Amino acid sequence: MFKRILLKLSGEALQGNQGFGIDPRVIQKLAVEIKNVHELGIEIALVVGGGNIFRGLMASSQGMERTAADYMGMLATVLNSLALQDALEKLNVSTRIQSAINMSELCEPYVRRKAIRHLEKNRVIVLAGGIGSPYFTTDTTAALRAMEVRADAIFKATKVNGVYDKDPVKFSHAKMFNKLSYKEVLEKNLKVMDSTAISLCMENKMPIYVFNMNDPGNIKRILNGEKIGTVVQEE
Ligand code: GTP
Repeated sequence: MFKRILLKLSGEALQGNQGFGIDPRVIQKLAVEIKNVHELGIEIALVVGGGNIFRGLMASSQGMERTAADYMGMLATVLNSLALQDALEKLNVSTRIQSAINMSELCEPYVRRKAIRHLEKNRVIVLAGGIGSPYFTTDTTAALRAMEVRADAIFKATKVNGVYDKDPVKFSHAKMFNKLSYKEVLEKNLKVMDSTAISLCMENKMPIYVFNMNDPGNIKRILNGEKIGTVVQEE
């Protein structure tokens, strides 16, 4: 069914229980999960957030200039991308990082055609630095890059099982949706991805699978057609 996916990881997914930064054991587990999917012959583009290192929005709400805060957040995604690359290559998964902010000593610049070529050559690509502009989230980066590399779907990893009508961590009666349309997400203001990302996906009919990354094998299950988590797609 799927040949190429864009996997979006939140920065927090890398921090484990320590509450900040990068937990090597957690990143190692994530890398095993990615390797298992890659071994099925699925081409994988990764986008990771940066919230475990720096929260741009929080800093700007506390008085920092929004653009400066956003650039710091973008740099945080580069740190996370390097950590992911390291973990994947330790497992013999070939990777290439491409950054939207030029850092030629560290990684390649983002070049769409080259990114696609890497995928075709069976390399996992890690797309770092957001889209290189402030005021855009890494969810929007994921949506945009998924379109650009012509991914079949976005796989959005979370720490809960899917999309709920209210925060399942705070409300024990929160109800999980199995299926949603883009319009419902926007109208109900559900916290799947920000509205820019959802609108992009809606206009380009890009399905979004929201699932729990803490259950090993979930991506594989979704690829096999099992109903895991929440899918956001056309009505
Ligand atoms: P193809 O030969 O096109 O299949 O891809 P390739 O990535 O193997 O070839 P290339 O010669 O472009 O890259 C060789 C190595 O250099 C890879 O590990 C790349 O990630 C790395 N590389 C390529 N361009 C840059 C760059 O601008 N900066 C950095 N730091 N590394 C780069």
